[in-house]
Amino acid sequence: MTETTAPVAFPQSRTCPYHPPAAYAPLRTERPLTRITLFDGREAWLVTGHATARALLADPRLSSDRDRPGFPATTVRFTGFRNRRTALLGVDDPEHRAQRRMVVGDFTLKRAAELRPRIQRIVDERLDAMITQGPPADLVNAFALPVPSMVICALLGVSYGDHDFFEAQSRRLLRGPEAADVLDARDRLEEYFGELIDRKREDPGTGLLDDLVQRQLRDGEIDREGLIALALILLVAGHETTANMISLGTFTLLRHPERLAELRADPGLVPAAVEELMRLLSIADGLLRTAVEDIEVAGTTIRAGDGVVFATSVINRDETVYADPDTLDWNRPARHHVAFGFGIHQCLGQNLARAELEIALRTLFERLPTLRLAAPAEEIPFKPGDTIQGMLELPVTW
Ligand code: HEM
Repeated sequence: MTETTAPVAFPQSRTCPYHPPAAYAPLRTERPLTRITLFDGREAWLVTGHATARALLADPRLSSDRDRPGFPATTVRFTGFRNRRTALLGVDDPEHRAQRRMVVGDFTLKRAAELRPRIQRIVDERLDAMITQGPPADLVNAFALPVPSMVICALLGVSYGDHDFFEAQSRRLLRGPEAADVLDARDRLEEYFGELIDRKREDPGTGLLDDLVQRQLRDGEIDREGLIALALILLVAGHETTANMISLGTFTLLRHPERLAELRADPGLVPAAVEELMRLLSIADGLLRTAVEDIEVAGTTIRAGDGVVFATSVINRDETVYADPDTLDWNRPARHHVAFGFGIHQCLGQNLARAELEIALRTLFERLPTLRLAAPAEEIPFKPGDTIQGMLELPVTW
């Protein structure tokens, strides 16, 4: 007879920044599907098995629309997104397909490869500045955040001079303590993009937003509101996530000196290391959907209206796919992880993110062979469990 245990609360904060919370341990024995309680006491399904996750993430019977009553909001912040347009991430097909088609050409592998020299220049400049001012340095503010911020600004045609503003508002959007705070951050970002788009209409530049404005004017493919929503998601998703991967990736490598030595000896390993870090760190831990029809899966029925959450940190450590899953090991094939999601919403910026991570990590450890933590690892603060995972600060010296 199996004992009935109370559903685990989701999300919870990590105890070590590169491992899932210790409290998720029972979830690993309950693959591929289990029940969880959300912050407001509601229950939802949690997907924890790799094969089931990939099948469900590709299933059109799961909706990403944040306004559906069953949507499994994992923090109070999500109430700030209700009734507001969330481009791409918050829409289903066919609307999703139409939006994605407008921007996908700018995020291909080829386009990311073309951007590499520019990314390298940005990485070099930021390291020059950090080295001139230090040691020590806070790697988050000196490097991990500015690099992706500058890259996405260049790609979109947004002025990096505004970074204090949009980084602060993105932080409130992703980590604000209350729904009102999140709404205010959103209002400010929408106003900012509205004004930017109007200026670009008068005086077009060469970025992706300029292209979209021109297309909008030419054939009405997207309205002003839609353009604002798209600009917002591209800017926010385009810098916060990668910044977290650079900071947490660096911290993880510094905590694995034997692995880091291998990487330094053979920089050709960097792409495999980035893929394995993506798997192990699973920084976007909790992808959210609502079932729109009954779905039979793993001997259970997910009912229409049920919330479904994907715990990427647990899915990416499924022992049936990854041997010894808690170990950082880039000799394994880490591909097929779901750290960038899967299905129609699979990360639009993944080619760009990989290019940024490879260049940032390789150059950082090449230029600073004595890089090390400047504080005891246990004392360095990292982000709480209800947002994208990463370091709040990363004191380093060399
Ligand atoms: C290492 C860094 C990154 C990680 C871990 C990451 C993770 C993810 C994940 C897990 C999803 C799927 C969400 C879901 O299914 O609910 C996603 C979607 C998305 N990401 Fe990323 N991302 C990263 C970098 C980027 C970058 C650089 C951009 C650049 C613009 C970007 C733009 C987007 C967009 C627009 C979507 C929505 C796609 C859609 O709904 O069609 N991401 N990302």
